[in-house]
Amino acid sequence: MASYSWLSHHAALMLLLINWREGMHCIELSVDPPGDLAVLDPGHLGYLEITWSPPASLINRAECPKLYQLEYFNTYENSWTVIRTVRRTYTAQFDLMKDVRVRVYTLLSGPCTNGTLVKSTSYIELVQKSPSTGLVGTAVKDFVCVFHNMEYVTCNWGGGPKMPANSQQTLYFWHKELGQTQECPKYTISNGVRSGCNFTGTFFPDFTDINFCVNGSSPEGPLKPTYISLQIQNQVMPATTQKLHLQTGPNAQLEVHWERPAGRVPGNCLEWEVKHNQERPDGKTSTQQITKKTILTLPSVHDKQRNCFRVRSRLHKYCVQRSFWSNWSHEICHPEEKQTSAEPRWDMVPLYVYTAVAIIAILVLSLCVWAALKVRSRQVKKLDSHTTFFAKSSALSVAET
Ligand SMILES: *[C@@H]1O[C@H](CO)[C@@H](O)[C@H](O)[C@H]1NC(C)=O
Ligand SMILES: *[C@@H]1O[C@H](CO)[C@@H](O)[C@H](O)[C@H]1NC(C)=O
Ligand SMILES: *[C@@H]1O[C@H](CO)[C@@H](O)[C@H](O)[C@H]1NC(C)=O
Ligand SMILES: *[C@@H]1O[C@H](CO)[C@@H](O)[C@H](O)[C@H]1NC(C)=O
Repeated sequence: MASYSWLSHHAALMLLLINWREGMHCIELSVDPPGDLAVLDPGHLGYLEITWSPPASLINRAECPKLYQLEYFNTYENSWTVIRTVRRTYTAQFDLMKDVRVRVYTLLSGPCTNGTLVKSTSYIELVQKSPSTGLVGTAVKDFVCVFHNMEYVTCNWGGGPKMPANSQQTLYFWHKELGQTQECPKYTISNGVRSGCNFTGTFFPDFTDINFCVNGSSPEGPLKPTYISLQIQNQVMPATTQKLHLQTGPNAQLEVHWERPAGRVPGNCLEWEVKHNQERPDGKTSTQQITKKTILTLPSVHDKQRNCFRVRSRLHKYCVQRSFWSNWSHEICHPEEKQTSAEPRWDMVPLYVYTAVAIIAILVLSLCVWAALKVRSRQVKKLDSHTTFFAKSSALSVAET
């Protein structure tokens, strides 16, 4: 019993000693955070440069490799992004309409820390408020850019609710391959105001942030700027499908197939939505389905059915993050014409019917005119015969008297 208690006492003492030694270790290795944290704006519409300097206590300790842990609040993803770097500068994309929040820790390794990586317990932080310049309610809204069939880009926007009259909006853009921002090459005007930009002939690299800024001026002061950052491969809208074919196969099969639009859009990335309208004597149904194929087969089609199809396409998620649906194609039907064509539609009436109607109308009109003239001339004649009769009778009466 006694030896047991002696043993436990001894163990406790050992533990204490170890703890104390580790504690000493921590104090010895306490690492300071970096200094001089700054965020610089080189005018690239949100692509900001973050810089800092090594902690003063470690400046002369060249034998101790230093690493930095940078954390910044990514407002696009609403979460903190963590980066480790040996450099003292880092460039990242920020939304200039929101606050910029940055923190940096020091990480030390090598002989100073006996080979382990030790992180500073505190960090240096910088919070830079968004420069909220411009008149309230004048920021543009619904900014959207479309990469039409991967051929050319257009961007469009709507005016802010309190946009003063005679406002002049301007669009600037920048990406890593440009030295400085450039202005929209050709504005789209609607109702007398700028509502978009036509970038036909402008090259945009893919898988690269493209930054846009729509700002402007008005007689009442500057407009509130809007900043947008996007990657062009996520803005693709494939061309509308033009070529659809329908054919009937054995056992009353019906097969619809279509051709992908010509151009740079990779065919293996396309997915299709097929809208199928079926008209039967007992009613109509409409179904929609998504497919990777460019063919759809209906197993058996009855004589009294009419089947119509339209397709549209977009890029699949495994190729790009997102894509716009193309416009719906024209409709293709089997049978082509409605069998129960109760009334001919006016635009279906051939030209010769119009001509015939016109000729008949002219004939009827001239007949009417002729008849009217005839009646008139007969009345005139009657009147004439009356007067002669009166003249005659008066002559007679004169003769009688
Ligand atoms: C450094 O670590 C080694 C093994 O990890 C250990 O043997 C040594 O005592 C440590 N030195 C110091 C100063 O902590
Ligand atoms: C864009 O401009 C090009 C020529 O500069 C023109 O052919 C094209 O139709 C325009 N597109 C739109 C959507 O305005
Ligand atoms: C709009 O932004 C561009 C690019 O940052 C800048 O050069 C220009 O002066 C701004 N215009 C106004 C009216 O604020
Ligand atoms: C798609 O349809 C809309 C509305 O009908 C039209 O304004 C637009 O030009 C069409 N786009 C293409 C690429 O055909």
